[in-house]
Formats: sequence, structure tokens, C-alpha cells
Amino acid sequence: MAATTLLLLSFALNLTVVLNDLLIPLVAAAVPIAIGIAILRYRLYDIDLIINKTLVYGGLAAVITAVYVLVVINIGALVGGSQRLWLSLLTTAVIALAFQPLRARAQRLANRLVYGKRATPYEALSQFSEHLSETFSHEDILDRMARILAQGTGAERAEVWVRAGQRLVLASSSPPAAEPLTPLVMQNGTLPEMQRDTIVPVSHAGELLGALAVDKKRGETMNAVEQKMVTDLAGQAGLVLKNAGLNRELLARLDDLRASRQRLVTAQDEERRRIERNLHDGAQQHLIALKMKVGLAEGVAEPDSKARAILAQLKHDADEAIDNLRELARGIYPPLLASDGLGPALRAHSHRVTVPVELELEDMPRQPREVEGAIYFCCLEALQNVVKYAQASRVTLRVWLSDSTIAFRVEDDGKGFDPAAVVRSSGLQNMHDRLEALGGSIRIQSAPGKGTVVEGRLPLQA
Ligand SMILES: Nc1ncnc2c1ncn2[C@@H]1O[C@H](COP(=O)(O)OP(=O)(O)OP(=O)(O)O)[C@@H](O)[C@H]1O
Ligand SMILES: [Mg+2]
Repeated sequence: MAATTLLLLSFALNLTVVLNDLLIPLVAAAVPIAIGIAILRYRLYDIDLIINKTLVYGGLAAVITAVYVLVVINIGALVGGSQRLWLSLLTTAVIALAFQPLRARAQRLANRLVYGKRATPYEALSQFSEHLSETFSHEDILDRMARILAQGTGAERAEVWVRAGQRLVLASSSPPAAEPLTPLVMQNGTLPEMQRDTIVPVSHAGELLGALAVDKKRGETMNAVEQKMVTDLAGQAGLVLKNAGLNRELLARLDDLRASRQRLVTAQDEERRRIERNLHDGAQQHLIALKMKVGLAEGVAEPDSKARAILAQLKHDADEAIDNLRELARGIYPPLLASDGLGPALRAHSHRVTVPVELELEDMPRQPREVEGAIYFCCLEALQNVVKYAQASRVTLRVWLSDSTIAFRVEDDGKGFDPAAVVRSSGLQNMHDRLEALGGSIRIQSAPGKGTVVEGRLPLQA
């Protein structure tokens, strides 16, 4: 029993000694390793750069020493005394020549170790400056800026905000935003409140033009190098954002212009419809009532009397006036277009054209009033030009739907003209304005002796 206890005691004592022997170096090694991991993983104390340089120059010193020891000491011992000096000179020369490529390689390796796959802040900045001189569209360069910002800071999300008047609009982000963010309202010309880790304003010639914003992963913070990189990038971004802002303003104005033209065309059509209704319900009804009264008077007048003949003539004149008025009203805004749509209205009109018209009208659902009006009046003007100038033997009118557009084509086999040489009068100009105002376009193909094709398109609202 005593022997067993003694044996166990000595075993426990031995184990403690062995464990101590093993544990102490293990713990001693684990501490710097843990510190190293913490520093690298969370980029503590702005240590990236120091580690990077230490790795580069430590590695280089190790390689150079190893080469020197290998060549000069080992091989030198073999070749003997007098050759040794030459050997050491030659080795020094070779090391001097190989230094630069070696350093570049060591730098790449150290970058890979410290920054992983992302670009170093310096690389990111120089990439941006390089591409600044190339011609990119503004959208491209803002996307690039967001991407470089994210890569250079290892951020979870990087954003480029551009000022538009008194608002701040998200112009680009990396990774791209799933949904467009609502613009932020500026406060007295300063940046609005934003919940981001880092926000750096971008200015040009003292004018605030936008901001760069960065969000790091949870628990990570921006170190001084990354912070400086964002500030430097913001410094370079001023001119880019200035141009982007101007471009945006120009586009917004173009949109405004298009919208106001559309409002004008729509208002014009509304006015036409109002006049047409007034003519129909007012003047036309009066004339019809007048004609009926004349008819009554004719009925009571002496047969074969002069009065009866005059009343008959009056009734005929009233009929003509009513027809003229109807024709006028139709030209202003045809009731058939309002009630039955494009197909029936164009078909009815084609019967009144003095040149034979071949119709190819695709069946289609009713379109918004301004779309039907634009296509109808453009076709009418093109047909009228054929009658007035083309001396054509026939004309084809086609209206069809394709790829969410409505299109028309008026083609004649007449004498044609040179579109570049003729002065556009209000006819062609109105067609152009009407279609453009609704986001469409017109194309005129013609040459003397070759006939004329007028083709227009309008996008259909989804
Ligand atoms: N189908 C065509 N064939 C031959 N010439 C044409 C044809 N269409 C237009 N033109 C030429 O183009 C010119 C401009 O046409 P546009 O419709 O703009 O003006 P207009 O018909 O002369 O005047 P408005 O339309 O204002 O009454 C015409 O004067 C004519 O010379
Ligand atoms: Mg014309």
C-alpha cells in the first residue's frame, strides 16, 4: 500500500515536471501568437504598415544573409584564400542586382499577408489617380470610386454621395445597394446626419459637393492609414463630383424640359377637343335648328312662289355650312378618334385623301389620348404632304406595335426631296415636337426621284 502510494506520488511529481516543461514554452509561444492574430485580424494600433515593412525588410535581410553565408563562407572555404575576395565581391554585385526584384516580390508577399486579397491603401489611391485621366462616363468613375474606397479600407460597405441642390443623393456604393436610398436633405449647406462609421466631405473650391462614407464590419475600426486614404481620396474626388453634379443637373433640366413639352402638347390637344365640342354643341346645333326652321317655313310657303325657292336655297346653304363646320371640327379633333381610337379614325380619313391609300393598321388596344393624338396628327400631316408635293401614284400607311413602342410609317412613290436641303416648315417640325415631347422620335428618308418614307415611334407606358 505504502509502495503504491509512493509510486503514485512519484508519478504525479514526474507528470507535473513534464507538464511544466511543456506548458511553459507553449504558453510563452501562445501569447505573442495571440497578440499577432489580434493585431492582424483587427488591425489594431495602426500596425499594418509596421508589420508590412518589418516583413519586407526582415525577409530581405534573412535572404541576403543566407545567400552570403552559403556562397562566401561555405563555397569560399572550398575554393581557398585568394579567390575568396573575388567571390565575396561577385556575391555582393549579384545581391545588389537582385535586390530590387527581390524587394518587389517580398513587398507583394507582405501585402498579401497583411492585407489579404484587398488592395493596400496606397495601391487603391494610385489606381484611382491613374484612371482619373482616362475617359470614363461619370457613372463609371463614381462606381470605381466606391469600389476602390471599399477595397482600400477593407470596408463592409462604401458609399459615394453627390450633392444635388440642397439634397445629397447616393450616386454609387460598393457593394451596390439593393434598393435606391432616399436622398438626404442638407442642413444649412452642411452634411446631414448619417449613421456611418466614417464620413468625409468632398469639396471643390470651397464648395461642398458630396461625401464619402464607409462602414466597417462590426467590431472593426478604421486605422489611421485607412482614415488618411479616405481623406486623400476625398481630396481627389472634388473635381469628379463637380462634373457628376453638373451632369446630373443637366439631365434633370432635360427631364424638366421634356415634361414641360409634354404638358404643352397635352394642353394643346385638350384645347382642340374643347373647341371641337364647342363647335359641335354650339354652332353646329344652332345651324341645324336654323335649317329645321327654314324647312318649316318652306313647308308653309306658297308652292312655286319665289319665297319657297329662296327658302329651299337657304336650306341647301345651311346644309353646306353644317358640312363645313363638321369638316373643321374633325380637323381640330376628330370625334371618331376620341370615341373609336386610331384605326377607325385613320381609316375614315384615308377615304378623303385624293391619292390612293393602302392601309396596314394592326389591331391594338386603346392607347392614352396623347399617344393616339400624336400618331394620328403625324400621319395626317405626312399624308397631306404627299398630296401637296409628292405627285405620287400611291401611298402606304402602316401603324403597328413593336417592342413596347407604337410605330407608324407613311411611304409614297412620289418625286421625293432632299431632307437636308428643305427648310422645315411647321408641318415636319410639329411632327418632330409632338413625338419628342412624348419621348419618341421621327425619321425621314427621302431623295429626289426616290419617294419618301416618314417613320415615327412612341414608347408605350408600361
Ligand atoms: N412626301 C413628300 N414628297 C415630297 N416633298 C415633301 C414631302 N414631304 C415634305 N416634303 C418637302 O418638305 C418641305 C417641308 O414640309 P413641311 O410639312 O414641314 O412644310 P409644308 O408642308 O411646306 O408647310 P406646312 O406643313 O406648315 O403647311 C415641303 O415644303 C416639301 O418641299
Ligand atoms: Mg406639311
